Amino acid sequence: MNKKVILDVDTGVDDALGIILAVQSGELELLAVTTVNGNVSLKQATENTCKILQLLQVEQQIPVIKGADKPLMRTPVFEHRVHGTEGLGGALGSMPVYTPAAEGFAPDFIIDQVRQYPGEVTLVMTAPLTNLALALMKRPQLAHEVKEVIFMGGVVKGVGNVTPVAEYNMYVDPEAAKIVLHAGFPSLTLVGLDVTRRALLNEAHIKELGDTPISRYVHESTAHYRRLYFERNQVRACALHDPLAVGVALRPELVTTQAYYVDIETRSELCDGQTVCDFQNRLRRKPNVKVCTEVDAEAFLHFFVQVLKT
Ligand code: RIB
Ligand code: CA
Repeated sequence: MNKKVILDVDTGVDDALGIILAVQSGELELLAVTTVNGNVSLKQATENTCKILQLLQVEQQIPVIKGADKPLMRTPVFEHRVHGTEGLGGALGSMPVYTPAAEGFAPDFIIDQVRQYPGEVTLVMTAPLTNLALALMKRPQLAHEVKEVIFMGGVVKGVGNVTPVAEYNMYVDPEAAKIVLHAGFPSLTLVGLDVTRRALLNEAHIKELGDTPISRYVHESTAHYRRLYFERNQVRACALHDPLAVGVALRPELVTTQAYYVDIETRSELCDGQTVCDFQNRLRRKPNVKVCTEVDAEAFLHFFVQVLKT
């Protein structure tokens, strides 16, 4: 039986690659792709997600369901600088959306599916955690009804990518992240920048994909993203943040995790959104998160390329 998964996205360039990996793996029962305000507006993220499912020709099998159009308490912080105005690096600009999002609201959909399949649903979150926080506010026992939660977010040893200490998904909605971190999930895996920055897609990987609609899409949508990465790091590549979270759902052995107590800053002038990991158990609190501390980056990239070239 394929693993039941709800994939929550703010489709952006790397979210789209995560959707492609999830679908093309053929190993997941994608109950839906839910969308949320993040890199771009909810409307744009939803449109982009519909286009990616159309590119994969699965738009009739996998529903897209809209969620929150803003963070719980804060104003949106879009990331057009990285993902482009529409959010796909300029790719698929001329593709019409002929299968729009389905009816429904993502937090309610998450609650309904988890109640229908208790203990079976994996939530893979690759965006600000607003939708999951709203679902928990409506149904706190949800935390004990899901199989596992894997989220791309935070950084526990390195520097931030929005502020000196905060990673984007955590920074946009730290109040939502705090609700998730304290909800009591028995299996909550943090896939942070510490490991996703090691998952670098380069031009050789893209060349390996051959010449297909997907490889052409990957090349076009990541061009600006790779240029930005080169300007900052002098390496022609881009970090597969969200695809690695999907990769952890598919091949958990790709990462090493360690249980720690992790909390998030929400009341600071400089550090809002910082994920604070208690490596030395100074606070004497029960570990609440499986933190990804290592990744077999080469194995992940090989897996990513093999899945996308099929
Ligand atoms: O920090 C990287 C994360 O922020 C990714 O999910 C990317 O899509 C952006 O949402
Ligand atoms: Ca994302």
